[in-house]
Amino acid sequence: MQQAQALRIPEHFSVSGNSRNLQHHLRTPATASKFRRQSVSAVASPPHPYDPVTQSMAPAKVEVFRSLDKWATETILPMLKPVEQSWQPHDFLPDSTQPSDSFMDQVQALREQTSGLPDEYFVVLVGDMITEEALPTYMSMLNRFDGVKDDTGSSSDPWSVWTRCWTAEENRHGDLLKTYLYLSGRVNMSTVERSIQYLIGAGMDTGLENNPYLGFVYTSFQERATFISHGNTARLAKENGDPVLARVCGIIASDEKRHENAYIKIVEKLLEVDPTDTMLAICKMMRKNIKMPAHLMYDGQDPDLFCHFSAVAERLGVYTAGDYADIMDFLVGRWKLEKLEGLGDSGLQAQDFVCGLAPRLRKLQERAQHRAQKMQPQSVRFSWIFNKEVTL
Ligand SMILES: [Fe+2]
Ligand SMILES: [Fe+2]
Repeated sequence: MQQAQALRIPEHFSVSGNSRNLQHHLRTPATASKFRRQSVSAVASPPHPYDPVTQSMAPAKVEVFRSLDKWATETILPMLKPVEQSWQPHDFLPDSTQPSDSFMDQVQALREQTSGLPDEYFVVLVGDMITEEALPTYMSMLNRFDGVKDDTGSSSDPWSVWTRCWTAEENRHGDLLKTYLYLSGRVNMSTVERSIQYLIGAGMDTGLENNPYLGFVYTSFQERATFISHGNTARLAKENGDPVLARVCGIIASDEKRHENAYIKIVEKLLEVDPTDTMLAICKMMRKNIKMPAHLMYDGQDPDLFCHFSAVAERLGVYTAGDYADIMDFLVGRWKLEKLEGLGDSGLQAQDFVCGLAPRLRKLQERAQHRAQKMQPQSVRFSWIFNKEVTL
């Protein structure tokens, strides 16, 4: 019989949009909330403390996506890169086809290059890599969206083709980062690998209701968030003497940017053909807050691992509460939401809320920072870096 273990359970999703809800992602290190914990057997999906909405798109809306099949084929699928033109992880790693001496020299050079990077950098890079490695969770998420799911597993409609090929592109990200980290010798691979298994077993609950309107808003936001995050780990690698790792993170960031553009275009098209419901979906998603995909992260030791990892990422400037507000601003501008016309009453209310959100978030962020400055700095030990202590 498998031993019971603690898994974090997702917080209840509020759709009220009140300031407490908005503060969710503005958590500062010192105010990192304690997740409620509950013992469950093995690594089954975490139990839901609420009754989740699982099918919020009206069945008739499937037709919206059918009507966009041709558009998606002509506009979205060309944003994928053909396999033969794609980079592969091995392009950036010591060449295992070389004789042993040469291969070992390349590994040694890699280790020397990573030696200038601080331990706290590896906490963030491991967290980012684990997030990438939970790819099965994200593919299954896309394949639950009504109207665009891959019914057969090899369906030829453009939405299914996109999902499979997007997954295939993303699959290289975790592979490359994980192998690089393994060769660096800087991280405890057994706790890192255990964390990946925990995370895939736990899944994710980001409140998308299997609704592609919500889903494509979420993926637009997330791809931009990962673009920013990988871009910043690239910058820090360069600043700390590892140009190869800088290229690794940079090439991954450029994939995320391309994916971001594709998802943004999908929402842009939905705004054109169905403005009110798309505006409502953007608003609903923003009221819920965009939860990070690895929010159920666990290493077998630290029940607040995701909070602690996020706090280090915030402090190093890899992904911050300010970035969250910036992404909001960017999407409002990119989708021209302030000028959007043809909205019904509910759509107009949603437009007001969404367009005013970034300034409200920034005010909350300022207050949270002010509070954090008055508190004693905390530090936490991370199993990923051999239980060394890192300031949050
Ligand atoms: Fe990725
Ligand atoms: Fe991505």
